[in-house]
Amino acid sequence: MLLNRQRRRAVIAGAVTLATAALGIGLSTQFAGAQATTLRAAADAIGKDIGVAVDVNKLQNNAEYRNTVATEFNSLTAENAMKWDATEPQDGNYTFSQADTIVNFAEDNGQSVHGHTFVWHAQTPSWVQGLDATAMRTAMVDHINTVANRYEGRVDSWDVVNEVVSDNNGAMRDSFWLRTMGEGFITTAFQTARAADPNADLYINDYSIEGDNAKSDTIYRIAQGLKSQNILDGVGFQSHLILGQVPSTMEANLQRFVDLGLKVRITELDIRLNTPADANELAQQAEDYRRVTEICAELADCSGITVWGLRDNDSWVPGTFPGTGAALLFFEDYSKKPAYTAVLNALGGGGTGNPTTTPATSDPATTSPPPTGSGCTATLSVSSPWNTGATYSATVKANQNLNGWKVTWTWPGSERISNAWSVTGTLTGATVNGANESYNGTLAAGQSTTFGFNITKADGSTASVPTVTCTPA
Ligand code: XIL
Repeated sequence: MLLNRQRRRAVIAGAVTLATAALGIGLSTQFAGAQATTLRAAADAIGKDIGVAVDVNKLQNNAEYRNTVATEFNSLTAENAMKWDATEPQDGNYTFSQADTIVNFAEDNGQSVHGHTFVWHAQTPSWVQGLDATAMRTAMVDHINTVANRYEGRVDSWDVVNEVVSDNNGAMRDSFWLRTMGEGFITTAFQTARAADPNADLYINDYSIEGDNAKSDTIYRIAQGLKSQNILDGVGFQSHLILGQVPSTMEANLQRFVDLGLKVRITELDIRLNTPADANELAQQAEDYRRVTEICAELADCSGITVWGLRDNDSWVPGTFPGTGAALLFFEDYSKKPAYTAVLNALGGGGTGNPTTTPATSDPATTSPPPTGSGCTATLSVSSPWNTGATYSATVKANQNLNGWKVTWTWPGSERISNAWSVTGTLTGATVNGANESYNGTLAAGQSTTFGFNITKADGSTASVPTVTCTPA
């Protein structure tokens, strides 16, 4: 929470800087080389979350998955690990190892966590579903208290209830919650969550509510009631969209919730198409992603966007909507889709996000020269500066096979690292001594990996780009 608040504070200043540049008052050359080249740096610079739903097994076992999640996103959501069946499979028997893995990873990498979810009709064990009204209420209160208390101060926001409205003309969903406890189950859930973690933002989350329709009207009515009791902070729009079908009323619909004094958030974004995808479809998909991202970027009270999975093959879509897929921002080999570039650009970042076309690498003012002749080389580049800080991305390139690497440099001025990701070591002083994390130290000759960090600096000073010494570990 603290980290997240610090990040937010820093980036508000950054947004001002970018806005000034966007006015075109002679600063464009200075800032051209400093445009963000990762989703994370671009979102940081405008004070938004860019999140991804993560799978615990891949986070534990797949180094490239981990590295991409850490480099490209500033917010995480557990795709399944925080659901009731994962956290309390038997009554009172809590299992947090998977959820802990995700929260620990987020903390190690300076990322916030959007929690998902306390009360849902799916992925909830049968022992809950069979309880009578009194016992079900007790189970709900105990569950929310236990999970919220465990992650208090570490999970920034929660989907308190999920999918409580049906697809039938805005009627309430006929779930075991509604049948057993009546519509009051929603209020009970929010009251309990508010008391358990008063600092977390509490969201109601649903799908097919992106446009102005009967279902979003019902969410609006529920949200009004919860907001008047001060137990709701935001509305999550899942946004499992179909190619070419971003609702034309989406912006106005989100705005009406903002007008209630609520935050809005795109919580589970994916845009599916009939597979296999052709180039035209990928271009249309990029347009759709750009539109959704613009809507959030332009709404001050949109807290951010979470994409529901990393690569197309990580997505739940092909299994749930057979014949469709290709719904996310990365291809299976981690290369970036046109949709990635569209999101990067809509967040204010530059280029395609691919290193070969990154403007920063060709701008001597913002990129340190690589020393030659050693087992590895490392370069820093400023991906987004603001008055009192900056986000940097760093690339470590192996010139021989490596089992680990160390980097060191000394800041010439007041620059100091405030948080870093995908690098460990003694990082916060004038001299930085960094080393690989467990997952990004093994590189074959010719391979590269990246890490990143934010700095604080004297107000208005230039973010310098010291030369980095890289040595095999
Ligand atoms: C999905 C996950 O992606 C799948 O891995 C799982 O098998 C089922 O749930 N709405 C939600 C998410 O709120 O929790 C769902 O996630 C997708 C739809």
